Amino acid sequence: MKDFVHIALETIDSTQTYAKQKCASFAKDKITCITAEEQTAGRGRFQRSWVSPPHVNLYITFVFWMPLPAPHLPSLSQILAFSLAQILLKKGLFPKLKWPNDVQLQGKKLAGILCETSFEKEEVAVYLGIGINVNFELAQAMQIDQPATSLLIETGKRWDRKELLQELQQEFGANLTIWQAKGFAPFHAAYEQILAYKGQSIRCLDGANEWVGICHSLTDEGQLNLLLADQTIQILRSGDLTSS
Ligand code: BTN
Repeated sequence: MKDFVHIALETIDSTQTYAKQKCASFAKDKITCITAEEQTAGRGRFQRSWVSPPHVNLYITFVFWMPLPAPHLPSLSQILAFSLAQILLKKGLFPKLKWPNDVQLQGKKLAGILCETSFEKEEVAVYLGIGINVNFELAQAMQIDQPATSLLIETGKRWDRKELLQELQQEFGANLTIWQAKGFAPFHAAYEQILAYKGQSIRCLDGANEWVGICHSLTDEGQLNLLLADQTIQILRSGDLTSS
């Protein structure tokens, strides 16, 4: 497992943006873990913003390099979501994974992941960002434009963010080593066990297409098998999923 180097920031626009600006100065044989207490322009998937008030949540970007070709890259963000879910399961919570990489508690969003890359000739730099609603109060979560929750809201207690960050580094670091050698396959069964909406009707926006079908299962590469009305399976590589 690679070592982690921690860069702890107070206030920044976005840990993703910071990571991209500074990555040339990061050690290539380590995983650089950038955290901020507050983000003033936190970014989510699909050009959405990520609400990032000070001192309550975790805003993290992991930066590392991988040699090319990197055939498993499309499933990488799922491994980070899975790592967080594993930690929560061990703590007696019941997380679900909304494909591809949202972590939910009680059907509401607890964490989201943004994976960005920059390709060079022989390697790819990965900027893997995760926002976890840790000690968000209910009133703060209500300001988000989709059902959101936090560990505080779900458990009624304040969580130690430093401890959770360390656990995530440990779990993700170990899973990353497995994923780099074997891809998504070793995680397939356990991920599918906590797949949100499994067997239910969903809608998935995938680029220009909107697919409606039953959330059936995953492929060994972590893609979604969507069962269509004509009983055929449509494989989705990425997308924005909602229940329908
Ligand atoms: C999503 O679900 O839309 C992804 C949200 C990703 C948010 C995290 S917070 C840390 C990192 N910095 C950002 O600006 N975004 C990611």
